[in-house]
Amino acid sequence: MGFPKNFLWGGATAANQCEGAYLTDGKGLNSADVMTAGSATVERERTDGIIEGKYYPSHDAIKHYDYFKEDIAMFAEMGFKAYRMSINWARIFPNGDDSEPNEAGLKHYDDVFDECIKYGIEPVVTISHYETPLGLTKYGSWKNRKVIDFYYNYVSVLFDRYNGKVKYWMTFNEINCMSMMPWMAGAVEASTEQERMTAAYHQFLASAKAVKLAHEKYPAMKVGMMYGGMFAYPNSCNPNDVIACNNAMRDFLFYCDVQCRGYYPNYKLKEFEREGIVLPVEDGDKELLLEGKVDFLAYSYYFTMVFGEKTNLNVEFGSPETGYENPYLKKTKWGWAIDPQGLRYSLNLFYDRYQIPLMIVENGLGAHDLVEADGAIHDDYRIDYLREHIKEMDKAINIDGVDLIGYTTWGCIDIVSAGTGEMSKRYGFIYVDVDDEGKGTFARSRKDSFGTKK
Ligand code: BG6
Repeated sequence: MGFPKNFLWGGATAANQCEGAYLTDGKGLNSADVMTAGSATVERERTDGIIEGKYYPSHDAIKHYDYFKEDIAMFAEMGFKAYRMSINWARIFPNGDDSEPNEAGLKHYDDVFDECIKYGIEPVVTISHYETPLGLTKYGSWKNRKVIDFYYNYVSVLFDRYNGKVKYWMTFNEINCMSMMPWMAGAVEASTEQERMTAAYHQFLASAKAVKLAHEKYPAMKVGMMYGGMFAYPNSCNPNDVIACNNAMRDFLFYCDVQCRGYYPNYKLKEFEREGIVLPVEDGDKELLLEGKVDFLAYSYYFTMVFGEKTNLNVEFGSPETGYENPYLKKTKWGWAIDPQGLRYSLNLFYDRYQIPLMIVENGLGAHDLVEADGAIHDDYRIDYLREHIKEMDKAINIDGVDLIGYTTWGCIDIVSAGTGEMSKRYGFIYVDVDDEGKGTFARSRKDSFGTKK
């Protein structure tokens, strides 16, 4: 048992959830900058522009833009071999449709990558992680085919600039989120399935163009997709439950089918036919999807769900309600069912289906941490959670033969929650002194999970 020698162990963040500096060095507004803070019971509000008096957590977040050297030094101290992070599109193209990139934004990420490389940490980069320049909404964002060109300009600039520094790229974070939360997935206002499927289609094409560009011009690069870990068990062995579960899972898995196989699966095409959904296909699209098959499949894994005949999925506040509970699993305070074995199950599901390298780029426990009088944070619950998941990855690699190439824990340093906008839903090994209203010293400290405790 054990992990491959070059296994990419590390941590993960997303720009809008950690950087802050939301208007610094020429950055424009993005879709996350107009999302207020919420909680496990209050939904985040999306405002029309920035409204005085409202609190927007992305504006300061944990100030990683200013603290990145200190933060990366702490990652190195923990022995990270990889840092999964995202580039904030609006730092590079402030309005999304600018003709020239913003040099200050590009320079910032050069500095971040150089800092990683200094410690032998491999940057693993998400090109678009829940942050789309707000300027693109005037085009209807991803509902408009034109946005593929803006994304392509952005990607071309990134690949050209960071060639030699960044090998691993992911085109869109949790691309299947387009079916549930289109605003997060790409600043898309969508009330119909037709709109969501059109936007997803455009993202598939954009991703395929990025893969193709890398394959043609930068052969050392590996470009992957990123799936938001939706996995479910049938509620019972009643065939109705099993079939309902399978059908509901297809709503998410088809995103992986398209990106890993290069074409839409028949079950989805049949569904489109039944529902009258028409994809805006143009000449050459089919070939592009095929040529743009991804090099690896990365995904987030936090929980499993139960689907059955009566499932009516609701993902408000970032917690999935399916109408069913799994009596064998405990849940976090945010309603996420903790299921380490489900991780092995999911790894096998994907490897059986696609036989391409897999990467777990998010996993971890969001919890309220208590700071003791002496400043210590005893997060044994987090250590246990991660240990159990790591054991299952070990089995997937060594018993099942899954080609798993990396594991980056989510929010390796405490960051803003994407689902609720809270700071108090913490995942980190590193504690950041800032609260749900953005108040605090922003000082960093080591939790027990950081690993310095003997
Ligand atoms: C994933 C996202 O869905 O889950 C991250 O890619 C997010 O951006 C993470 O932060 C954890 O969710 P939350 O709501 O606890 O922040």
